[in-house]
Amino acid sequence: MALATLKQVLEMASATLTAVPMFNIDNIEIPDAVVPVAEKYDCPLIFGVGQGAIKAGKLYYLRDVVYRIADQTSLPIVLHLDHGASLEQAVECMDAGFTSVMYDGSHGPFEENIAVSKKVVEYAHARGISVEAELGAIGGVEDGVSSDRKNLVDVEEVKEFISRVEVDALAIGIGNAHGLYKAAPNLDFDRLRQCQALNPPPLVLHGGSGIPKDMIQKAIELGIRKINVATELRNAFMEGLEKSVHKRDIYAMYQAGAIEAAALAETKIRMFKRLDEI
Ligand code: 13P
Repeated sequence: MALATLKQVLEMASATLTAVPMFNIDNIEIPDAVVPVAEKYDCPLIFGVGQGAIKAGKLYYLRDVVYRIADQTSLPIVLHLDHGASLEQAVECMDAGFTSVMYDGSHGPFEENIAVSKKVVEYAHARGISVEAELGAIGGVEDGVSSDRKNLVDVEEVKEFISRVEVDALAIGIGNAHGLYKAAPNLDFDRLRQCQALNPPPLVLHGGSGIPKDMIQKAIELGIRKINVATELRNAFMEGLEKSVHKRDIYAMYQAGAIEAAALAETKIRMFKRLDEI
């Protein structure tokens, strides 16, 4: 099936009051393992190609993998650039056939974020491609421990940003961070409520690894429609590899990794679809 856009799958999520998972991908095996699970739950998927994969030279390989996978399933699949670093990188991905790009200007000055996001949107929307922007930089493991209350989006900036840039999704920092949390995450739900009251485009929660189910489901209830998961999925796959390394059989190892990755994806899909609500 032809790839879907982010806008399309977020509309589905908004209609069902659920969130669509974005799983970061780095190889063939992980997306291959995730699709059958998503099919079981009729869950649209966003596959994110991140900066690590791009630095490793995998942009075009992963593009091809996602196109091939999408051909073999009837599920809506989105090919998305995660944390796009520049207008040029976003354009390269769009020209390569991505159906969604994120431009992350959250680390720079606000006006620059607006100016570049606008250019990305202009290029993208002329081609039917979706755009995600970010406000309130979401940190990494080193600097982003959630209980530090860092990375909190400024609600006034959200108001201004969405009045000036027509993005299809907006990632906001509400105490979430990439990587595994050192202390229990402390999401600022009041801030999320205030953002949602502005009638924004669908909101995105990065750093989905390690956020407990009750917090995830509360965030979805308050308007989060896309949740990114990378670390836990990679770790699950690598655990499978580790457990089976004694076999000295690369396909047996991939299979063991795929089983673990599929199990992790199933947990997240059930959580994001609020199937076993707390
Ligand atoms: P985690 O690695 O914490 O799951 O975060 C993934 C992410 O937000 C990618 O953009």
